[in-house]
Amino acid sequence: MKGLILSGGKGTRLRPFTYTGAKQLVPVANKPVLFYAIEDLVEADIRDIAIVISPETGEQVKQAVGDGARFGARVEYIVQDAPRGIAHGIKIAQPFIGADKFVLFLGDNFIRDGIVPQVDAFRNGTMNAQIILYKLDDPSSMGVAVLDGDGRVTRLVEKPQQFISPYAVIGIYMFDAHVFEAVNAIKPSARGELEITDTIQYLIDRDLNVRAHLLSGWWIDTGKMSDILEANRLVLDILQPRIEGQVDTASRIEGRVVIEKEAHIVNSTIRGPAIIGERTRVENAFVGPYTSIYHDCLIRQCEIEHSVVLEHSHIENLSRRLADSLVGRHADIARAGGHTQTLKMMIGDYSQVGI
Ligand code: G1P
Repeated sequence: MKGLILSGGKGTRLRPFTYTGAKQLVPVANKPVLFYAIEDLVEADIRDIAIVISPETGEQVKQAVGDGARFGARVEYIVQDAPRGIAHGIKIAQPFIGADKFVLFLGDNFIRDGIVPQVDAFRNGTMNAQIILYKLDDPSSMGVAVLDGDGRVTRLVEKPQQFISPYAVIGIYMFDAHVFEAVNAIKPSARGELEITDTIQYLIDRDLNVRAHLLSGWWIDTGKMSDILEANRLVLDILQPRIEGQVDTASRIEGRVVIEKEAHIVNSTIRGPAIIGERTRVENAFVGPYTSIYHDCLIRQCEIEHSVVLEHSHIENLSRRLADSLVGRHADIARAGGHTQTLKMMIGDYSQVGI
């Protein structure tokens, strides 16, 4: 089987982070979301992988993933000229997929337990397509599936306005080559995209064997800021503690903590679950539970908890604890100089600040 990961899109719900970076590269517990998808495929013994990228953020994705060797995979890239829909991503990948069965993985989707049993069932079985469902009280922002009594999918509706079923279709799908007939036949939807739901409905309407697997572990679409903090919490909770950087004797490490290579912890407390990235310096500071500080940051003379800080950012001299925050790349947060109570800021477009 082959793997197809979609890693384009504009990431509008994650602005301002996605003005300069691909949403699939936002780190969760100091690892880009996209890497978890690649690892899930490799774990299921899928090593021929194509990643569909956009002209805007494709180069960054290529730089981060490379040829796939570090994941034990062979990765190639397919440029999608504009966001024309998930099914369009399949269409342009046909030369890569050929006659093989494949897994389609949306690069911002994230599940805890991997896909090994589902891939094995699909690889060895007679299904033409398999989708993965996640039960939600309100699935109206997603594709929604209706099932018959024995797990066969009878209907799929994209973002239904009326409640038809609690089963949201998550961004991991398996197909055989019948899917190409579907993506070549369907027409763009009202939002101008070739929809994955219309693709699967096409297969159902032709009596092909479309099955669903109901997910029991958690699933997160990291497309929104609150989801990034949640995904970060969930992953930090299952992280293996390790200390590869330097921690001086005046510092305390409490609980489940990862200190990555060449990080320096000086006269500080790190209370896990937390992760401190490569070459990051934490000095005279408190880093509290559910915090991920990415590579090359400086955290000095301040307290921070339940937050995600992206690479090359500096946080210094704060008189209040920073919490529940996502701090972008190359950001600077510090108390203004002098004796006044002035707040001094340079805020990017679509930023949100709580004071
Ligand atoms: C897309 C699909 C939808 C699916 C979702 C999973 O939605 O169209 O059917 O449930 O991905 O993440 P979109 O992110 O384009 O709104």
